[in-house]
This record gives sequence, structure tokens and C-alpha cells, in this order.
Amino acid sequence: MQSELNRALGDTLYRAAVVPVLTLETVEDGVEIARALARGGLDLIEVTLRTPAALEAIRQIRLQVPQVRVGAGTVLDPEQAQQAMAAGARFIVSPGMTPRLIEAAQVWPVPFLPGAVTASEAMALSDLGYACLKFFPAEAAGGAAALKAFSAPLAGITFCPTGGVDLDNARDYLALPNVVAVGGSWVVPRKLVVDQQWPAITALAEQAAGLRRRH
Ligand code: 3PG
Repeated sequence: MQSELNRALGDTLYRAAVVPVLTLETVEDGVEIARALARGGLDLIEVTLRTPAALEAIRQIRLQVPQVRVGAGTVLDPEQAQQAMAAGARFIVSPGMTPRLIEAAQVWPVPFLPGAVTASEAMALSDLGYACLKFFPAEAAGGAAALKAFSAPLAGITFCPTGGVDLDNARDYLALPNVVAVGGSWVVPRKLVVDQQWPAITALAEQAAGLRRRH
């Protein structure tokens, strides 16, 4: 069950190409940002569970901006995943993987994107049925060069790199055959959120949406 969901998420990520990663101070910011991103053409977003506002923000984005597919990131254990799914998260992302998460994810109704940065981690997850993985922290773990090196021996495993990705290096990742999408916070700079510059976020989203492959 989870392997099919994970594969389908890989297809969704491929179509999206860019996944804004949001760490939110308030629920209201989350709703405004989701609207701004959708206006700019980005409709797949990850809200990290790193702030107290995260779960309610997921709930309100799902209710108020239904055209956006919102998932939960920084999910470290099955309890957090349950809370995120109860809030309406449509996919679950973790920076890594644990046996408890893998066990629990078997019965989740939504896709799981676990993280890997080494060949052994990627092989272990692939063995468990996960064909699409998060590659985090991407730049610190070798960046596009590392993923390029994985593409021949680990053919069949695809990645969504996040961590240090920005407009400048996103193209290098997206040019690789084993990269389905890139994720990151660069599309939503903190200063623009503090200043409530929603049209500026829409402009950044349009720029990021322009990274989408043409094929
Ligand atoms: C994540 O959780 O995916 C990362 O924190 C995003 O990393 P970035 O802030 O470097 O884009």
C-alpha cells in the first residue's frame, strides 16, 4: 500500500518540480502564503512541524486554500504523523527514517517521503518499497554531484533534494534524471513574511514555477 502511495507521490512531485518548504510563525501567515504561492503557480507545499502553528496552519490551508496540496514535513515519529494526518496533511515528509516510522507508514492513507543521504540508506528504503526519497540536507550531503553519482548504481530510485537548495542551484538538480523535484524555503523568505509582502512571494513562486521541465 505505502509503496504505491510513495510512487504516486513521486509522480506528483515530478509534475510540481518545486516544493516550497514553510516554517510558520502564525496560522494566518500560512494561509496567506499558500494563497500567494498558488497564485504564482505552485500548488504543492510542505509545512514543517517545527513551530506550534504548524498543525493548525495545515488544517486552515486545507480548508481555505483547497487548490493547494499541503503536506507535513519534519515528521520525526508516528505520533506526529498521526497529528498531521488528522489536521489534513496529504503527504508526510521526514528528514530521515526510523523503523517505527516505516512500520507505522504501512497503514497510512497518505504517501510517505522518507529521507536518505547515503547509498545504504537509499538501498534499505528501496528494499522496503520506497522508490522516491527525500535527499536532506542536500547541499551539505554532496549536492547535485552526489545525486548524479547515485543515478547509475541506484537507477530506479528518485529523489527530492532539500536543504540549501535555491534558485541558483535548483536547475543543476532538476537536470538530473533521478531528481523528481526540489524543495526549499527560498521561495518564501522570512523577511517577506514578516513584512506581509504576499505579492512578492507570488513573484518568487512564478520564478520558481519557471524551473519546471518542459517535457
Ligand atoms: C527542509 O526541511 O526540507 C529544509 O529545512 C529546507 O531547507 P532550506 O531552508 O535550506 O531550504
